[in-house]
Amino acid sequence: MEKIFEIKDLYVKFPIGESFFSNEKGFIHAVNGVNLDIYKNEILSIVGESGCGKSTLARSILNLEEKNSGTIIFNSKNIDSFSKTEKKDFRKNCQLIFQNPFSSLNPRMNIFEILKEPLIVNGIKNKNEIKKKVLNVLNLVGLDESAISKFPHEFSGGQRQRIAIARALILNPKVIVADEPVSALDVSIQAQIINLLLELKEKLNLTIIFISHDLSVVKHISDRVAVMYLGEIIELTTKNKLFSDPLHPYTKALLSAVPQINPTNHKTYEPLEGELPSVKNLPNGCFFASRCKFVQEICKTKHPNLCEYSDSHKASCHLINQI
Ligand SMILES: Nc1ncnc2c1ncn2[C@@H]1O[C@H](COP(=O)(O)OP(=O)(O)OP(=O)(O)O)[C@@H](O)[C@H]1O
Ligand SMILES: [Mg+2]
Repeated sequence: MEKIFEIKDLYVKFPIGESFFSNEKGFIHAVNGVNLDIYKNEILSIVGESGCGKSTLARSILNLEEKNSGTIIFNSKNIDSFSKTEKKDFRKNCQLIFQNPFSSLNPRMNIFEILKEPLIVNGIKNKNEIKKKVLNVLNLVGLDESAISKFPHEFSGGQRQRIAIARALILNPKVIVADEPVSALDVSIQAQIINLLLELKEKLNLTIIFISHDLSVVKHISDRVAVMYLGEIIELTTKNKLFSDPLHPYTKALLSAVPQINPTNHKTYEPLEGELPSVKNLPNGCFFASRCKFVQEICKTKHPNLCEYSDSHKASCHLINQI
């Protein structure tokens, strides 16, 4: 499989400034040593609790967040060595879709204006070409021509997310980062948007980075899944392996929250207790040690690396062969 992104030893931290309420200083360690290859035409999901660094990881991959160290290779080229034109192409090729389409769509613009804006910014001026592209992209996302003269508030949540997807697609990108794109929608609408993304991936040869805290959504859409905890990837494998044979105790705990249609056929896991610890002071040992039911002495002192346990199944835990 051909790689579209190669991410090596990526770190992102945010300085904490003194404020009226606190005189604490230091850093929030949002992404801590991520190594990850992303393949062309796959849907890679990133899952984990709120605050574990999913959005920061995705934004730093797209160069929208400054990294502190590490390397990001896009189509075999280091993004730090991009020329001005290559940077512009990279922006065009990698588009974002957010959780809340209402706040990401300008309420004063009608759909035609919303969709033509990226074209104008990229120097496309021919009116016929613009109209053709706008109608084509509306068709791709399942909206009809009458949508062009309407405003965002005239649409339902699911339709607004279709418009946001259309805007992301209008410049023919290669990569879509969808950051919790269905979290704000009803379950029935969630399924429609997920099916649309699956269809678009095939039709347009897209690579999709899909961010979610909801494993039942991820179960439907992903080819592979990366599980994050405190800014690290702690398990990385195919969707089927993750759901049938999770290795990391944290993944098992996350899976305990996924509703099963036929629970007797499935392994059950103990739910997770407590909250994600602070990302201000990272522990020396395993980051999950403070919440792990199986914790041993080694976990508190030695940091585990992400290792390959079987073909395309990586996890970082000292105890995998024991639990
Ligand atoms: N611009 C910023 N300045 C300071 N801290 C930030 C900034 N962006 C994110 N953080 C912090 O970095 C950590 C990771 O945040 P991030 O938004 O990436 O998590 P997330 O997994 O996407 O969470 P959620 O599921 O809630 O969207 C959090 O502790 C967050 O508070
Ligand atoms: Mg987020």
